[in-house]
Amino acid sequence: MNKWHVNIMTLFPEMFPGSLGMSLAGKALERGDWSYDIYNPRNYAQDKHKSVDDTPYGGGAGMVLRADILEKSFLDIKNPGKKIYMSPRGKVLNQKMVQEFIKEENITILCGRYEGVDQRFLDAHEFEEISIGDYVLSGGEPAALIVMDSCIRLLDGVMGNEETAKEESHSNGLLEYPHYTRPALWVDANGIKREVPNILREGHHKKIEEWRIHQAEKLTKERRIDLWDKYKQK
Ligand SMILES: C[S@@+](CC[C@H](N)C(=O)[O-])C[C@H]1O[C@@H](n2cnc3c(N)ncnc32)[C@H](O)[C@@H]1O
Repeated sequence: MNKWHVNIMTLFPEMFPGSLGMSLAGKALERGDWSYDIYNPRNYAQDKHKSVDDTPYGGGAGMVLRADILEKSFLDIKNPGKKIYMSPRGKVLNQKMVQEFIKEENITILCGRYEGVDQRFLDAHEFEEISIGDYVLSGGEPAALIVMDSCIRLLDGVMGNEETAKEESHSNGLLEYPHYTRPALWVDANGIKREVPNILREGHHKKIEEWRIHQAEKLTKERRIDLWDKYKQK
């Protein structure tokens, strides 16, 4: 049973636990399967305006979070564990990385704002930059919630059926096969009859498994040639 703790460095504490206070993650939080602490750099600001940022050296737009203030906040974390800075410049998050993150008992996530953070803080404390995709958010908090969500659902006991995690998209290098549920025959709003594939209704487990693998391979090949190429090389 892994207990997983996240230290979140953020200027917007009220954004947590956010969606992670609900559903499976919320129940897991109540049970103590995971926990979090907030470290708000604003509380470590020294001037009367509580400023945490300043203009960038070399000029340019926006403000940069100060290394000295971030460090004060960071040094209050007893067990930082793995250190992650949410950043569009980082390595793009994938399921393999998520599986590694949950092996850590403690993880510290720094949420940037404005133009980002002073590079010296990241270098001094060896933060790894992780991105959630090739686009730019206004802050690291939604990205941190995404990293946390993808991790929490894999913690022991969080998902009811452990098989779910083994078969789903990205866990075996393939996108997942399509799902169907009752009714077996459904007529859509345009009057078109849509039936569940027969093979899924015949109860022949081996054939169902083969059909699902075939569908997963077909989908991956059609939609994600990058994943398909990697899968074929395995
Ligand atoms: C407006 S962005 C700063 C972008 C930065 N000036 C750049 O061009 O790389 C503010 C903060 O949002 C977060 N952020 C934005 N896009 C992100 C992404 N794709 N993945 C993870 N975090 C992101 C980072 O923490 C970043 O410091």
